[in-house]
Amino acid sequence: MPRHTLIFKNALENLEALSQAANIIRAGGLVVMPTETVYGLGANAMDDAAVRSIFSAKGRPQDNPLIAHVADIADVGVLAASIPSLAAYLFSRFSPGPLTIVLQKKPEVPDSVCAGLATVAIRIPEHPLARALIRAAGVPIVAPSANISGRPSPTSFTMALADMDGRADAILDGGDCKHGLESTVIAVEGDTLRILRPGAVTSEMLREALLESDLFKACLILDATSEENHKPSSPGMKYAHYQPKAQVYIAQRIDQDSITDIFPHKKVGLIVLGDGSSQGRLEKTAPPYPDGSLALRVASRTEYARLLYRCFHLMDEAGVDVIVAQEAEQGGIGTALMNRLRKASSGRKI
Ligand code: TXA
Ligand code: MG
Repeated sequence: MPRHTLIFKNALENLEALSQAANIIRAGGLVVMPTETVYGLGANAMDDAAVRSIFSAKGRPQDNPLIAHVADIADVGVLAASIPSLAAYLFSRFSPGPLTIVLQKKPEVPDSVCAGLATVAIRIPEHPLARALIRAAGVPIVAPSANISGRPSPTSFTMALADMDGRADAILDGGDCKHGLESTVIAVEGDTLRILRPGAVTSEMLREALLESDLFKACLILDATSEENHKPSSPGMKYAHYQPKAQVYIAQRIDQDSITDIFPHKKVGLIVLGDGSSQGRLEKTAPPYPDGSLALRVASRTEYARLLYRCFHLMDEAGVDVIVAQEAEQGGIGTALMNRLRKASSGRKI
């Protein structure tokens, strides 16, 4: 049954709208909220039926657990059975922000949140509207990315509306997302930190934070997402993900002649990575590309990460047949960016 979706603009200034959205959460409904990474489809984390309705609204596989969001470090204990000192340290360094930590769950956390696992993923978002909604609702909010399962995560209000109109009870407009890729997910076991999904809190930043502490210098960082590792790092990483309607290919260089040779008569969307010296822009390509082809020039890897899904969305709207995305250097934000591009392309390269 399609839902009637309310739209709330400026909910930070409009206390009436915020309390209406919080009431929807408390009553077991679904509210799309902006975060600094991507928009999330939120529900009361402690309400099993509400959590289960997220899976049907998104068409999400039941065995893919959700991230629970709290507004303050002090509230992590509402969900986690215990907080190892390494996890507490990392929360204190990177929260609020794009870091999710998987910890042992309390029995009160419904199994539907964790897909039957003994652990729960917890994040403290930085976006003021997400924090205001969690505080007003007075409960932790589970929120997967607010896209139909398998599709790119929404990083703007327009994208969230395109996927969630009729599926959520309300959508909060919070503008464009600052990071544009989903949070870094890590698991903490003893003195080992395992990266399950790379994001804007990079492995380099985590390493530096450990080195700066006397207590955690000796901790080990394992990257479960590296290409050599074929086992899915977390339940969600085994599914097709982040895919626009157009077929995505990764190219080392964007060479106009060879691309038109490979895809004759196809409408092509190009994503070109600049050297940081010029501004990014979306432009129509010149012949020999067929009419309707587009090129997005991104100024840097950070801009690339921020705009990747928006670019997929725009290119799908323009009806391109294939998207050719330029490879970015690994390391820093490049690691998360290439992780998403590999998934979006199912490894296709030209
Ligand atoms: O930035 C984000 O993290 C966004 C915003 C809305 O916060 N949320 C998001 O949620 O990306 P989602 O559901 O699209 O991705 C959650 C990821 C999945 O890869 C899932 O498998 C993993 O977190 N995950 C959740 N709980 C887990 C657990 N207990 N153990 C291992 N991985 C877990
Ligand atoms: Mg997702």
